[in-house]
Amino acid sequence: MKVLITGAAGFIGNSLALRLLERGDEVIGIDNLNDYYDPELKKARLARVADNPGFTDVRIDLEDRDGIAEVFRKYRPNRVVNLAAQAGVRYSLENPHSYIDTNVVGFMNILEGCRYNDVEHLVYASSSSVYGSNTKMPFSVHDNVDHPVSIYAATKKANELMAHTYSHLYRLPTTGLRFFTVYGPWGRPDMALFLFTRKILAGEPIDVFNYGKHRRDFTYIDDIVEGVIRTLDHVAEPNPDWSGDHPDSASSTAPYALYNIGNNQPVELMHYIEVLEDCLGRKAEKNMLPLQAGDVPATYADVQDLVRDVDYKPDMSVEQGIANFVAWYRDYYKV
Ligand SMILES: NC(=O)c1ccc[n+]([C@@H]2O[C@H](COP(=O)([O-])OP(=O)(O)OC[C@H]3O[C@@H](n4cnc5c(N)ncnc54)[C@H](O)[C@@H]3O)[C@@H](O)[C@H]2O)c1
Repeated sequence: MKVLITGAAGFIGNSLALRLLERGDEVIGIDNLNDYYDPELKKARLARVADNPGFTDVRIDLEDRDGIAEVFRKYRPNRVVNLAAQAGVRYSLENPHSYIDTNVVGFMNILEGCRYNDVEHLVYASSSSVYGSNTKMPFSVHDNVDHPVSIYAATKKANELMAHTYSHLYRLPTTGLRFFTVYGPWGRPDMALFLFTRKILAGEPIDVFNYGKHRRDFTYIDDIVEGVIRTLDHVAEPNPDWSGDHPDSASSTAPYALYNIGNNQPVELMHYIEVLEDCLGRKAEKNMLPLQAGDVPATYADVQDLVRDVDYKPDMSVEQGIANFVAWYRDYYKV
């Protein structure tokens, strides 16, 4: 298969590219290497795939409408995985425009590329943050998600709505994946595990929001990649039982699907920090702080649909996952 991955220098996109290349797929990787976080880390990730003859590296911005249309015409991918995005909940309070530019305008360009080039399946990243103010646990794709609490979450929900219209109008099979807090080797420097590790090793205090009472369904990178590949291989289909009288939000008369990919085992932030302290062999000095605006106190994924359709459920323990991250971090940064 020829697979176009956007965000190929990113945390998830790069690990996905590696796995698809390993199984013999051809990968066209799009990224603009922006400086939201250290571009050197993005380049180092790309170096992991650059030598593979099946990999084509394309430096382009998702907002470049003509350029993206040309990439689709030139490479004619069979399937597309859209992972490029302005990520991060907290930064969306500082710079909301960049979320609209990449996540909404950029996603539109991807939808148009798929529409005009006979793409068989578009898989795209949504997020657990779409659950916003919901408190019913675990979060199910069949729940209403009309109450996002950040612009980041609103753009991800917008992607699901936009995808549905293209599945409906042009019969483009689309699958949205709501990822739950992803962590692991080659991770993102703006996320808690990375920030904590850097600060603990430097002897600096860490900021612990919501007084450490956050509960998160921390999901290991390899488990996310496995979930993406299984859903990529399982082309979305219409649901013959769907009825507009009782509209199910996770399916449609159009070829449209939505899944949660989460560990299905929430962990309290304080426990996550304790495991990290054990792995690093050092105690953290903690600034205990209230919940930040835009953040949600808990996430917990219902993965029944994922199990039903692709026979898969993430299962990495945070003890093993954090140990793997710390081993990678120490090796990469030589600390
Ligand atoms: N990591 C998580 O915990 C998590 C959780 C939920 C959802 N997601 C979503 O999963 C996807 C991948 O996340 P990630 O953690 O790998 O993030 P990441 O920031 O590491 O990767 C995104 C990549 O996209 C690129 N990019 C951003 N804007 C671009 C643009 N306009 N044009 C071209 N390239 C652009 C970036 O340079 C980056 O390499 C994102 O859509 C994110 O919102 C991630």
